[in-house]
Amino acid sequence: MSNSALLASLQANFIGRDTEYPTVDGNRSPRIYLDSAASTLMMSPAYDVGHEFLEHYASTHSDLHYAARGASQAFEWAHEKVLEFVGANPKNYCAFFAGSGATAGFNRMAASLSCARTERDVVLVSEMEHHSNDLPHRHHTSQVVHIPCQGEFERYGALDMERLQAIVDEYGERINYIAVTGASNVSGAITPLAEVARMVHAVGAFLIVDASQMIAHAPVSMDEADIDVLVFSGHKIYAPGSPGAVIAKNDLLHAIKPAELGGGMVDDVYIAEYMPTETLPDREEAGTPNIVGAITLGAVLDLLTRVGMDKVREKEIDLIDFAWRELSKIDGVTLYGPDPAELPRTGTMAFNIEGFDHGLTAAALNDYHNIQVRNGCFCAHPYVRELLKRQLWEMDIDPDAPNAEADVERKRGMARASLGLYTTRADLEALVAAVKDLVARREEILALYEPIGTNGYRHKDFKPPESDIFDPERLLQRFLAAPLQNTAG
Ligand SMILES: Cc1ncc(COP(=O)(O)O)c(C=O)c1O
Repeated sequence: MSNSALLASLQANFIGRDTEYPTVDGNRSPRIYLDSAASTLMMSPAYDVGHEFLEHYASTHSDLHYAARGASQAFEWAHEKVLEFVGANPKNYCAFFAGSGATAGFNRMAASLSCARTERDVVLVSEMEHHSNDLPHRHHTSQVVHIPCQGEFERYGALDMERLQAIVDEYGERINYIAVTGASNVSGAITPLAEVARMVHAVGAFLIVDASQMIAHAPVSMDEADIDVLVFSGHKIYAPGSPGAVIAKNDLLHAIKPAELGGGMVDDVYIAEYMPTETLPDREEAGTPNIVGAITLGAVLDLLTRVGMDKVREKEIDLIDFAWRELSKIDGVTLYGPDPAELPRTGTMAFNIEGFDHGLTAAALNDYHNIQVRNGCFCAHPYVRELLKRQLWEMDIDPDAPNAEADVERKRGMARASLGLYTTRADLEALVAAVKDLVARREEILALYEPIGTNGYRHKDFKPPESDIFDPERLLQRFLAAPLQNTAG
């Protein structure tokens, strides 16, 4: 199969892409899922591989019965697929799985690197970071210096490389590492990683990349960019339920103490002492791993490697350009972050509609148009505040007010449409039409909603049937109603 044909076939094979939901007009339609930056849908053939593995399920780390042998080999294969996907030569790099997403990886690396290089007491973090690539470093390091971005107000985003160079010159060999996102989860702004690596390596600092928002959208080569550590979540690349992945240089991993202890990572244990293994990745993978999740993720990465991430990126650029251009034409719509014509971005677009709080935009897109987007500050509060600064000033709201009232919370945020491999031009045309519709019916919609909590909104009359909201109890009831038919053998 050609890679174009494979891409087309994958695009049509996601679980839940066409799940139907009701709208205010009484109709039902397949949803339009534009919430991929939070979590992507499951790629069907990869799910099938994980599901089939359950027929042979056993734990890893043995090859003496058939099932354990298959599990051990498949788990090793998943590690190889990760290394291949991120362009990391296995001679120099090791991949290991940790936790349920990227957060575990950052906490691990922050704890380990701060202990290993106590003489280097400064860590650099960009102002665009998700909290999970900021707070662990604040917790484990005596000083975090935040690197500003380029541009002003709504266009703020993408690392300011001149400021970074000045900060590297100022702190020099005190810098342990820089932790920077490959692409922002708010604006999609892409970081020039090879350039950052050159700058920080000149003073012996490491580069840790948060690839959570880059991994499914743009090619990455750790070898070429000389990245020391890269972290991503499997659920951001079509494998919900899979673990977080950390890929790091072997030398670096041998130089740090394993952050987690338990079974599988020791050579021997006595009452008086224990000996962590030198074998990677075992040394970093204490406990029974999430084998099904790792295999599912390995399957996604295998398929996307066959397609080629250049091809995926190429397809997404056209969609980003279309959506940005059409949304910017709508009166009263503000888009945030760098213009894609000036700086490269992934398919994540945060926006606001004049007169609508971000929660109302998300609720009305869902209720009237069956379009699913996220809203809020996306766990990137400093960056979102910077992007909203001018607008909040104009509203006479202090963006830094520490004990913000519910009203402020409702205004401090954005709606965010984010793309996945399954997103089509038609999905984005529907988004553009829906935003136009909200603008045209502003007064009517404002009157139909009431605020709930600090940033939510609820339609006063429309209530979807309970059966449309997923409920595990309901599925169990189905099983319990006919237990004999469901009993094997
Ligand atoms: C850029 C970025 N980094 C880190 C994370 C944290 O990932 P997880 O919640 O899977 O640990 C996210 C999740 O939204 C993200 O978008």
